[in-house]
Amino acid sequence: MKFFIDTANLAQIKEANDLGILDGVTTNPSLMAKEGVKGNDAVMQHYKTICEMVDGDISAEVISTDFENIIAEGKKLAAIHKNIVVKVPMIKDGIKAIKWFSDNGIRTNCTLVFSAGQAILAAKAGATYMSPFIGRIDDSGWDGMELIHQIRQIYSIQGFKTEILAASIRNPNHIIKCAEAGADVCTCPLDSILGLLKHPLTDIGLAKFLEDAQKFA
Ligand code: E4P
Repeated sequence: MKFFIDTANLAQIKEANDLGILDGVTTNPSLMAKEGVKGNDAVMQHYKTICEMVDGDISAEVISTDFENIIAEGKKLAAIHKNIVVKVPMIKDGIKAIKWFSDNGIRTNCTLVFSAGQAILAAKAGATYMSPFIGRIDDSGWDGMELIHQIRQIYSIQGFKTEILAASIRNPNHIIKCAEAGADVCTCPLDSILGLLKHPLTDIGLAKFLEDAQKFA
């Protein structure tokens, strides 16, 4: 399973990248706004900076919702760097645009996926990645992980090549469950990635080893 970090914060991207386990980055308009990135030029420059920091796929989301403008915006984003993946919302014109991008060699991430039916459409349109939002499904009282299992089963039976990019991750256990369910990628906040490091017995064991090491130092 590939690890992406789900942020537009450059310090957090650097920290995850320095661990040596990062395969890419996902952003969205809310994450960009959170970093105070304002104006088209600044947004484009921010994506370029991320591409220069991380050697992996970088999702950059369109903010247009009609076919012509999604295509125009996606072309500009894709021109920033070879690793840019154009993130397109799961709407009718989005599906048309994903098919167009796929036919024209531009890679895509179909975002805001909340059902197996949407996942099938994204795969049929030729999306490179498709992002089910686990945490938001959990928040609404349903089971996000169940959707990952269902999509994995459908994609495997049907031989769809689109990669399942589990998104809206809220905690380390989500990451473990995504790995179990066969997600191809998990995009996570830094805290959830670092949370995988933690176990109290590791801390207790290390403290004892270091204490005992003093006896022969
Ligand atoms: C990633 O591609 C998504 O935009 C992101 O994971 C959404 O996460 P959230 O539900 O925490 O906003």
